Amino acid sequence: MCSTREVAHPLLPYPATVTKIIDETPDVKTFQVVFDDPAILENFGNKPGQCAMLSILGVGEAMISITSSPTRKGMLEFSIKKIGRLTSVIHELDVGDKLAIRGPYGNHFPFDMMKGKNCLFIAGGIGLAPLRSLIDYVLDNRDDYGRVDIIYGARSYADLCFKYDIFDRWPKVKDTNVYVTIDREEEGWDGHVGFVPSYLEELNPPSEDTIPVTCGPPIMIKFVLQGLDKMGYKDEDIITTLEMNMRCGIGKCGRCNIGEKYICVDGPVFNLAQIKQLPPEF
Ligand SMILES: Cc1cc2nc3c(=O)[nH]c(=O)nc-3n(C[C@H](O)[C@H](O)[C@H](O)COP(=O)(O)OP(=O)(O)OC[C@H]3O[C@@H](n4cnc5c(N)ncnc54)[C@H](O)[C@@H]3O)c2cc1C
Ligand code: FES
Repeated sequence: MCSTREVAHPLLPYPATVTKIIDETPDVKTFQVVFDDPAILENFGNKPGQCAMLSILGVGEAMISITSSPTRKGMLEFSIKKIGRLTSVIHELDVGDKLAIRGPYGNHFPFDMMKGKNCLFIAGGIGLAPLRSLIDYVLDNRDDYGRVDIIYGARSYADLCFKYDIFDRWPKVKDTNVYVTIDREEEGWDGHVGFVPSYLEELNPPSEDTIPVTCGPPIMIKFVLQGLDKMGYKDEDIITTLEMNMRCGIGKCGRCNIGEKYICVDGPVFNLAQIKQLPPEF
């Protein structure tokens, strides 16, 4: 028997309702949503690292990473930075308000290939949003993975996303270390101060049997990749997720095309060896 989802067109947006809103930072909110038809979520089939197109009638649509792990059933979560037209309107939504969602799109983090390995997650700012789907997937299947190290930084304490995860939930999970840093000294903060790439080099976590996964602002990723290279990681083992303007999400419009790749279908998750094959302007 075919489900509703299997017969639907991949571009079809489904109505959904906001069920919870968390103020993460001054410009980031996390929205928990449920589809109005529960069968849609049951058959959505999202995997860690995939995205969805969120839309509001008469305003527009935007590609957003699904920040919740598929192991967390019954809802989807999106952490959204207020940056322009659509994201500003989404930030005005209240619990009970409607939006539409189509997807899931793109490839996913290689959670199967990572089984049995140690995981090193390195994120900056809202870059923790896509990684969080994988971190929770790994922690919810804890015995399938080795040691987990999470290095996360933001400009200030106020700019740290998911404080309930990084300070409370994740450090309580066995063999899981969370290292948090902010860019500059600030009153009331007695944790680490400095940029994420320098903290990575300072911590120098063991690299044997370890898969590093990173996401953050381009300048952070650039220096993190240099650091991982110095630590002896192979390009094939270094995973990141790219972000660029998208329209269709299914490889039709050409908006996200770089060389031979369409970021929406070949990505957004790539290893460093694949990124080095992309045209130099990227
Ligand atoms: C694969 C992928 C995953 C993403 N995940 C998230 C996420 O989890 N959370 C989140 O908050 N955002 C995420 N984004 C970015 C998000 O799609 C944009 O912020 C959003 O489209 C902005 O829409 P807007 O209408 O509010 O802004 P607009 O009014 O369209 O634009 C405002 C300004 O932002 C610039 N801009 C718009 N989109 C992008 C972009 N993708 N990259 C760089 N600059 C852009 C515009 O050029 C313009 O200057 C993701 C993007 C991609 C492609
Ligand atoms: S967004 Fe249309 S081809 Fe990728």
